[in-house]
Amino acid sequence: MCGIVGYVGSKRAYPFLIQGLKRLEYRGYDSAGLALAGKTVELHKCKGRVADLESHVGDNNLEGTVGIAHTRWATHGEPNDRNAHPHLSMKGHFALVHNGIIENYAELKKDLVRNGFEFQSDTDTEVLVNLIEFFYRAGEIQAETAIRLALSKVVGAFGIAVICTAESDQLVVARRGSPLVVGIGEGEYFVASDATPVIGYTKNVIYLNDNDLAIITKSSLTIKTLEDKPAVFKISRVDMAIGEIEKGDFAHFMLKEIFEQPKTIEDTFRGRLSQGRDAIVLGGLLDVFPLIVQAKRIILIGCGTSWHAALVGEYLIETYARIPVEVEYASEFRYRNPILSAGDVVIAISQSGETSDTLVALRMAKERGATILGVCNVVGSSIARETDAGVYTHAGIEIGVASTKAFTAQVTVLTLFALKLAFARGEITSAFYSEMIQELALIPEKITTILASHLKIKEIAAKYKDATNALYLGRGALFPVALEGALKLKEISYMHAEGYAAGEMKHGPIALVDDNLPVVVVCPKDHYYEKIVSNIQEVKARKGNIIAVVTEGDTVLKEMVNDVFEIPESHPAVTPLLAIIPLQLFSYYIAVLRGCDVDQPRNLAKSVTVE
Ligand code: G6P
Repeated sequence: MCGIVGYVGSKRAYPFLIQGLKRLEYRGYDSAGLALAGKTVELHKCKGRVADLESHVGDNNLEGTVGIAHTRWATHGEPNDRNAHPHLSMKGHFALVHNGIIENYAELKKDLVRNGFEFQSDTDTEVLVNLIEFFYRAGEIQAETAIRLALSKVVGAFGIAVICTAESDQLVVARRGSPLVVGIGEGEYFVASDATPVIGYTKNVIYLNDNDLAIITKSSLTIKTLEDKPAVFKISRVDMAIGEIEKGDFAHFMLKEIFEQPKTIEDTFRGRLSQGRDAIVLGGLLDVFPLIVQAKRIILIGCGTSWHAALVGEYLIETYARIPVEVEYASEFRYRNPILSAGDVVIAISQSGETSDTLVALRMAKERGATILGVCNVVGSSIARETDAGVYTHAGIEIGVASTKAFTAQVTVLTLFALKLAFARGEITSAFYSEMIQELALIPEKITTILASHLKIKEIAAKYKDATNALYLGRGALFPVALEGALKLKEISYMHAEGYAAGEMKHGPIALVDDNLPVVVVCPKDHYYEKIVSNIQEVKARKGNIIAVVTEGDTVLKEMVNDVFEIPESHPAVTPLLAIIPLQLFSYYIAVLRGCDVDQPRNLAKSVTVE
């Protein structure tokens, strides 16, 4: 949700700024811009992608050594040149880039207009930069103080980076709600919304906390709170390799990430399956595990794909550990005044660890006495830092906007968690516990087998690429897989798709079935098999086209339906990890065949740091 980049040092800022924007483009990509500090601000911005900004800059040799840049996901004002960041203050003393939403911008704007300020854009960000200008008196108060005063008037979320013409050797950054990372180089500092732009420049970073403000020059870094008190921070190491953030030989990041899943699931297991494959070790939960074992209730919260992973978690935890589980959209949970008490455990599932709704819901749960845990992918993210304990998914950086490997890593963690909890509570035998661990250990190899059938899946995708609607059906833990399959398709191909619990089909969606509707049914051999075969018959009777995810060798269904995606046989507890793979590939190929921009789908953003 908007990417911010900043540089202070002795070198030209431009190369880092542009490259940084490219790495953050997955956060938003409707317009881009940059500003360099000097006696006046040098500003370049335009609607479109970072590549359009590069063309806009053209042959201009931008020399500045202190600069800020931005790639936008529009909140206030349509994506156009005027609304692109950075925004300049009216008198031109300040340029600012912003991630987040200033909720009281309308009142602030009214006051500023009364004080003679004029505005060029429709954004809340231009209000903030002018508010800073309003408090600023060149020669009397410093830029830092004006920024602090302006931020004290702001209601809402922000990550900002600001440059000032009178103090052109410095960059001021601040955050509340939107992430910011400072990379520490040799005589230079890098700022970004996440650590990816700094890879290749430095391994040492500081993740700013909420309400931190940093004043950065090439030779100094001062971090204080917004109230001007010393801030607590620590230097962390980022151990990502460049290869992790490049596409390599793949046409898209999404395809690369789908194909990475055998490895990312191995990485999620790493250090978590005991040598003898008879126990699960979740080091991050060690201190709180006795409390979880006694939990009265577990509430899983998340958004989007993470919410689907939570639904799979619900089936597994209730089935095996026998603790009541509720799954909530974080955006609903935070506002509906939920009843919570000390015996409750609330687990946030989040790839980015920055999703605003999830973070705020978690804080609310903490205030009400619940134990709060996180299942996050991004190390050092806000949710990871604010929770009592947690488990990292270790899927590696996910760049494709449509989540794939992060989903399977989340489901893997939740499966490990459910089984460990079940065993600790005496709900499963040690024989079953180790049998399940063996099953899990086989998953990467089984996914490799499914990936090998990608060309067949592509052929099937070609048959259905022109449909306008699609229906996805599943039962049990495969119902959330159907939801996730439908989400993948609509996100990247813009084909309308709905996921349904197969048993619910007759209560509405069956009305849609005709010979134009592809119906994707997830029906491997498990104890729902007979039931779901009946659902298939109901669709067939109405001439629907059925694409079924089946267990290898299921000749009965192969005969009955139009097309099949085969997955290897597995225990139902781990089948969600297999069943989703062909659905990811199916959506990917349909989107490619429809000519869609798979990695940067229309209107979406990877990390949603506004509500
Ligand atoms: C956005 C992304 C989704 C993601 C959701 C939740 O909508 O496009 O892929 O599932 O946010 O994000 P989180 O980082 O909390 O998992």
